Formats: sequence, structure tokens, C-alpha cells
Amino acid sequence: MTSYDQQNSTVELTLQREDLRMKTKYAIVFICIVALVIIEKESNILSRVSDRLIQRQMPQQQDFSNITQKGSLMALKMLLSRLSGTRRDSSNFSEEEEEEELDDSGTYSYAGGRKHVLLLATTRTGSSFVGEFFNQHGENMFYLFEPLWHVERMLTPAAEANNGTLLSGIYRDVLQGLFLCDFSPLEKFISPPPQDHVTPSLFRRESSLSLCEERVCSPVIRDVFERYRCKSRRCGPLNLTLASESCLSKQHHAIKTVRVHQLDTLQPLVEDPRLDIKVIQLVRDPRAILASRMVAFSSKYHTWKAWAQNGQVPEDDEEVKRLKGNCDHIRMSAEVGLSQPHWLRNRYMLVRYEDIALYPMQKAEEMYKFAGIPFSSLAREWILKNTQTTQKASGIYSTQKNSSEQAEKWRFTIPFTLAQVVQRVCGPTMKLFGYRFVNDEMTLTNKSISLLEDRLFN
Ligand SMILES: *[C@@H]1O[C@H](CO)[C@@H](O)[C@H](O)[C@H]1NC(C)=O
Ligand SMILES: *[C@@H]1O[C@H](CO)[C@@H](O)[C@H](O)[C@H]1NC(C)=O
Ligand SMILES: *[C@@H]1O[C@H](CO)[C@@H](O)[C@H](O)[C@H]1NC(C)=O
Ligand SMILES: *[C@@H]1O[C@H](CO)[C@@H](O)[C@H](O)[C@H]1NC(C)=O
Ligand SMILES: *[C@@H]1O[C@H](CO)[C@@H](O)[C@H](O)[C@H]1NC(C)=O
Repeated sequence: MTSYDQQNSTVELTLQREDLRMKTKYAIVFICIVALVIIEKESNILSRVSDRLIQRQMPQQQDFSNITQKGSLMALKMLLSRLSGTRRDSSNFSEEEEEEELDDSGTYSYAGGRKHVLLLATTRTGSSFVGEFFNQHGENMFYLFEPLWHVERMLTPAAEANNGTLLSGIYRDVLQGLFLCDFSPLEKFISPPPQDHVTPSLFRRESSLSLCEERVCSPVIRDVFERYRCKSRRCGPLNLTLASESCLSKQHHAIKTVRVHQLDTLQPLVEDPRLDIKVIQLVRDPRAILASRMVAFSSKYHTWKAWAQNGQVPEDDEEVKRLKGNCDHIRMSAEVGLSQPHWLRNRYMLVRYEDIALYPMQKAEEMYKFAGIPFSSLAREWILKNTQTTQKASGIYSTQKNSSEQAEKWRFTIPFTLAQVVQRVCGPTMKLFGYRFVNDEMTLTNKSISLLEDRLFN
């Protein structure tokens, strides 16, 4: 080795040592930063947890003070069972921390990549159809169709005495349980009560593919149960323990309901750090909803038919007030969502039924993208089959004449007088969603005039 070489290697060694020292320095700085971030997060988590605990206590106390004499006994019973039943163990946070992720909204979610889609609608808005977009997703989806039906049926009288605040709190807690695959809050409302967590009476079980899978399907015991069998196979009564296990094994969860009337009542649910909730509100032209209800619930709407015939609509009638109330609730929920409060940021999407009828595939893709769930080929196939949408080679989806024609049929069935009434009492709602008013019957029934304004909501 020459001295030159030696010198060179000494220099090199020094350089290497220098390099190492710098690296160590950087490493220490880096570790410090990481530590700071962790401490910051931890205090964040602690404050979130304590916030949640406080939040969970508050509404319940309010509920107690609001309850009127009439429904109090039943409501009290419900509340007590709720307190003992639905409280979840929060000591599992340390475990779930490992899975934490920074989601789009900048808030932490502990859902471990699991997505929870809540499809909010009202009746006759095509919500069963849109619910199928998720139901048909495939193996990785656990979908429930209208589980709150049981709650409403059991609680409505008590809840009306309480002005609905009690009911909305219970709806929220049942949804929370279900999104966590815990059926026990719902079980309390199933009638007759399940025996050993087994029931033949779950509402519309057959509308949920995951409740009709082989593994959730118990043997048919008696032919009495035959009417509860699933379409795909003969299933005995539903074992909710199996349903819960199936739910836990699925990556994504979706629930469709027409029973939540005020979006803001869901804030504690949306903020639950164990969930990654995405709310999709589905709306439709209120004139179309009325027309559709008059056909579907014909006997209930006989007063409307009578009004249409004699041309007089008493606007202080309870029926008209109910229509106005429904429109106002839908609008107020949408206003909450569209104003993007912190708790709903990137978690709310407004969809018009009419747009889905025009562009089903495109809208389905948008909903999946919003939910953060990959659009599946099974869902795509189902939509193709059920809308007869043709997919052009260019990848642009053609307008489907059939489903959009379907969506416009109401224009020929609703009497013009009633369309005018809806426009008067639901005006602000129609304006918000971009539904055009008509001033004469010719416009109402002229198909070349669109009653839909182009709108982008999100
Ligand atoms: C955490 O949750 C799992 C199931 O979700 C449960 O089996 C386990 O006992 C829980 N751990 C603690 C510490 O509560
Ligand atoms: C109940 O609801 C009605 C109508 O929404 C309202 O006018 C009334 O003040 C409410 N009562 C209570 C006690 O909140
Ligand atoms: C329901 O399923 C669970 C889990 O497999 C099982 O342990 C239980 O025995 C079943 N219940 C009945 C009544 O069959
Ligand atoms: C519309 O649907 C009907 C049956 O529902 C079908 O016979 C018809 O071919 C469809 N029309 C178009 C344009 O797809
Ligand atoms: C329908 O509306 C279009 C566009 O405004 C108009 O040209 C047409 O004459 C109308 N048709 C009838 C039957 O009124």
C-alpha cells in the first residue's frame, strides 16, 4: 500500500465517520420528531375518547328529562337496556391504534380500512334499487336493508310523545351497533323477541345477500319458516350470532334506511373513531314522490285523489302539513351535509335519483369512489343487467332511455293541481335540489322540457 493510498483511505474513513455521525444526528432528530408526533396523537386520542364518553352520557340524560308521562315507562325500559347493552369496550383502543390511518378529512379513523356506507333516503326515492349497488358488491360486503323498521314499529307511540328526539337517538345507537356487527341493540326491538339470538322475523332478510349466504343459513326446522327462506336457498330462522360473525368477516358494511329524518342527529355516530362512515343522501323530486306514493299506497292517499278531482286542496290539512314536514326534513339534512361541517367533511354525498336513472353506471362509480370501496365487476354486472345500460367501447356510458323514462312517468300520472301544491309547500326543497317548477299542465307533460337542472353538489 502506498502512502498515497493510506492517506486516501484515512480520508475516506474520516469521511465515512463524518457521514455516520451526520446520519446518527439525523436519526436522533427523526426519532425526536416521531416521538413528538406520537405524543401529540396520544393526547388527541385521549381527548377524543373522553369527548366521546361525555357525548354518550349527555343525550341520554336529556332523553330522560324530555320523556313525557305517557311513554315514560316503556322508554325508560328501553333506555336502561340500552345503557347496559350497547356500551362498547373502549379499552381496545391501544390495539386498534396500530391500524390508525390518516384519512382524507385529516381525522383519525380506527376502522382499519373498513368502510361503512349509510344510505339515507325516504320512501319512493329508488333507495332499494340504489341499495342494491352495494348489496351486489360481492364477498366483501355486508349489507342490511332497513333494519330500523323494527325500532320504528316498536317505539313509535312512545317516541311521538317525546317529539322524536328519543327515537332518533335510538336509531343512531342501533345503527352504531350494526356497523360494529353487534346485533344486540337491534335484537331488543325484534318482535317476537329472538330466542337464543335466533329469529325467523328479521325484516326483509332476503334483501341482504350476506344474510342468505350458506354460512349464515341454518337448516329449515319446520315448514312454518319456509316463508323466510332466502331466494337463493332454503334457510331456517336467522341465527344472529352467525350473522354477526359473517359481518365481522366482511371488509365493508352498508346499511340502507328511510327512517333517519335529521342528519345532525347522527353526529356521534359519524364521529365514532371505530367507524369510517360515509353518508349518501338520496333525494328525488317531491312531485314524483307524491305521484309514486299515490300509486303505491293507494288507499292511504285517497284524500289526495279526492282533492285532485274537485280541484280544491285545503293547505292546512294534516296531510299537506306532513308533506311539508317531510320536504323540510330532507332539505335541512341536505343543508347540514352541503355546508360541510367539520364532522361531515368528506363524509357526505348528495345524489339525485333522477341522475342515477340517467347515468346509473357513472353514478354508481361515483358513489363507490366516494365511499372508498373498489367498484366490483359483480356490482357492474348487476347494474348492466338491471338498467340495460349499454357501455360503449369508448368507456362513456350512454344514457339509458328505459330507466330515465321510468323516472319521468310521474309527469303523466300526477294531476297538475297536486303538482302545484307540492311546488308551494316544497318550494325551497325543490330549488335546493334543482327541480324546475311548472306553471301549466302542458309543460308538466311535455317530455322535451326537462324538469331537472344540471347540478353538481359535491
Ligand atoms: C378487544 O376486542 C376483541 C374483539 O373485538 C376482544 O376479543 C378482546 O377481548 C378485546 N380486548 C380487550 C382488552 O378488551
Ligand atoms: C315538538 O315539535 C313541534 C313541531 O315540530 C314543536 O312546535 C314543539 O315545540 C316541540 N315540542 C317540544 C317539547 O320540543
Ligand atoms: C347460532 O350460532 C352459534 C355460532 O355458530 C352457535 O354457537 C349457536 O349454537 C347457534 N344457535 C342456535 C340456537 O343454533
Ligand atoms: C325498455 O324496457 C322494455 C321492457 O322493460 C324492453 O322491452 C325495451 O326493449 C326497452 N327499451 C330500450 C330502448 O331499451
Ligand atoms: C314541447 O316543448 C318544446 C320545447 O319547448 C316545444 O317546441 C314543443 O312545441 C312543445 N310541445 C307541445 C306539444 O307543446
